[in-house]
Amino acid sequence: MKARITIRRAKPSDARTISNVGKSLKVVGEITNEHTSRGFLRGDVRAESYLEAIKYSGYFLVAVEKGKVVGFVMGYPTSYTKPHNYLQAYVLNHYSKPESIFIDQVGVLRSSQGRSIGKKLYETIFKKAKGMKVVAGSWASPYNRATELFHLKMGFRKVARPRGVTNGRKTAAFIWVNDNGT
Ligand SMILES: CC(C)(COP(=O)(O)OP(=O)(O)OC[C@H]1O[C@@H](n2cnc3c(N)ncnc32)[C@H](O)[C@@H]1OP(=O)(O)O)[C@@H](O)C(=O)NCCC(=O)NCCS
Repeated sequence: MKARITIRRAKPSDARTISNVGKSLKVVGEITNEHTSRGFLRGDVRAESYLEAIKYSGYFLVAVEKGKVVGFVMGYPTSYTKPHNYLQAYVLNHYSKPESIFIDQVGVLRSSQGRSIGKKLYETIFKKAKGMKVVAGSWASPYNRATELFHLKMGFRKVARPRGVTNGRKTAAFIWVNDNGT
C-alpha cells in the first residue's frame, strides 16, 4: 500500500531535516543533463536560514511520510524577501505591493519525486494564499527544465526574465506568477 503523505506547516524542529533535503538537491558546480531534467537548488540551504523563515511565515510547509520530511516549500510574504540576489530583488521590487506569496525554494527528495508531493505542497499554498498572487523564481541559465515544467503544470505563467551575476557568473532567471483566483 502507498504510504500517506501529510502536508503541514513547518516547525522550528524541522529546520535541520529540511536542510538535509535542501543539501541533497543543491548543485554547486556544473549543471548536467540529469540536473536539468530532475531539477536542482542553487540557494541557501543552511538550517539557520530555514529556521528564520519558519519562525516568520505560515507559508513554509513540509511533506511528511512515515514521520520523515520528504519535501518542503519555503514560502513567505513578498515584503519579507531579503534581496540576496537579483532574482529576490526583482520579486521584492515588483510584487510587494500588493503583498504576494514568494516561493523561495521548493524541493522533494530525489527518491520521492514524481509522486505528486510537489503538487500537494503547492495546492496547500494556494489554499492558504487566499486570493494573493503566488510568485516563484527559477533559473533560466543554468536552465532548470524540471522546475519550468512543474510550474507550468501548477498553473504558473512566466512573466519576466531578469539577468544578473551570481557567484561571479552571468546568469538569468525566470519569474513565475500564479494569480490564484485574484
Ligand atoms: C520540481 C520538483 C519540486 C517537483 O516535485 P515532484 O513531487 O517530483 O512533482 P509532482 O510529482 O508533484 O509533479 C507535478 C506535475 O509536474 C510535472 N513535473 C514534475 N517534475 C517534473 C520533471 N522533472 N519533468 C517534467 N515534468 C515534471 C509532473 O509531470 C506533474 O504533472 P501531472 O500532474 O500532469 O502528472 C522536484 O522535481 C524537485 O525537488 N526538484 C529538485 C529541486 C528543484 O528543482 N526545485 C525547484 C527550484 S526552486
